[in-house]
Amino acid sequence: MAEFQPRVFSGVQPTGNLHLGNYLGAVSRWVPLQDRMPTIFCVVDSHAITAGFPDPIELSEATREVTAAYMAAGIDPNKSIIFNQSQVREHMELAWIFNCVARMGWLNRMTQFKEKAGKNKENASVGLFAYPNLMAADILAYRGTHVPVGDDQKQHLELTRDIATKFNNDFGDRIKELGIGVPNPTPSPELPEQLYFPITEPMIAGPATRIMSLRDGTKKMSKSDPSDLSRINLTDDADTIAKKVRKAKTDPDALPSEVGGLEERPEADNLVGIFAALDGSSKEDVLKTFGGQQFSAFKPALAELAVTKLSPMTDEMRRLKEDKAQIDAVLKDGAEKASAIAEPVLKDVRKIIGFLDVR
Ligand code: TRP
Repeated sequence: MAEFQPRVFSGVQPTGNLHLGNYLGAVSRWVPLQDRMPTIFCVVDSHAITAGFPDPIELSEATREVTAAYMAAGIDPNKSIIFNQSQVREHMELAWIFNCVARMGWLNRMTQFKEKAGKNKENASVGLFAYPNLMAADILAYRGTHVPVGDDQKQHLELTRDIATKFNNDFGDRIKELGIGVPNPTPSPELPEQLYFPITEPMIAGPATRIMSLRDGTKKMSKSDPSDLSRINLTDDADTIAKKVRKAKTDPDALPSEVGGLEERPEADNLVGIFAALDGSSKEDVLKTFGGQQFSAFKPALAELAVTKLSPMTDEMRRLKEDKAQIDAVLKDGAEKASAIAEPVLKDVRKIIGFLDVR
């Protein structure tokens, strides 16, 4: 290879219901990438067991549900590879090797582990600690060059770059000798001339795509919030979507005409942001139209927009969820295509490391 093939890789965990935040912050942004470069979208079931094993039936149902959401949102199995992580064993094998590349000190710095492990670190699973190494393996088993994710994953992508850099360096001579490297596209003193793994480019979603709870504008919209009114689920029908928008928390003032006027008004800011994201416009544009108006005028307009934009997708999502055979066929085909890319990569990696191949 004279240069790395551009390739997008991203994934979502199959835990609980997908909601508007997952859609606007992640999956909807992936759709246009499909026409620009090869894309792989994974349902990361092996990550979903790191914070405790979910109920087995629920885990397989949630895996199908995320697949249905990808498809209903416009990820086309004829353009993108869609599969569930556990079907391609190469992820696990590369993760083990990366466990031996990454340093304890690097993982000790991961803020997501600290948040998820909470006070009782001694009782967190080893898998939760090593999770970022598996994420690096997900990406690099395909020598992925571009990874679109939310800003909460930024630190994990930096770790992925550190792992790729260390591997490329530690095995630089061997990679060159075997003739399986790619000339470093951005020569730097930190890296050898020939690389095996690309230094992945993060494509981080800005704060504008952070969708907050409909009941509390200071909290992220979340599948674990006990109030269903706090989120719009990707399986909600038109009436439910409209009802949740009508019941969304607001403040008593009219909407401002300038974005600056949304400061210290988290609920107003969130609803204006949702309108802009659904409409493909900006908060400025929304306030040009609605500045000076009361929520009693803005909310019906937002409800109508949300129903128009989302209900075709949520209808399709509910239909697909019933069609397990179709979902499973898509995942099977995707797993075969994914394996066809990852298997030769792991063959190379074993050779680079010196694992003896006698079969
Ligand atoms: N850790 C990601 C999240 O929680 C999910 C994920 C796993 C992922 N592997 C990945 C995202 C590889 C991008 C690329 O959102």
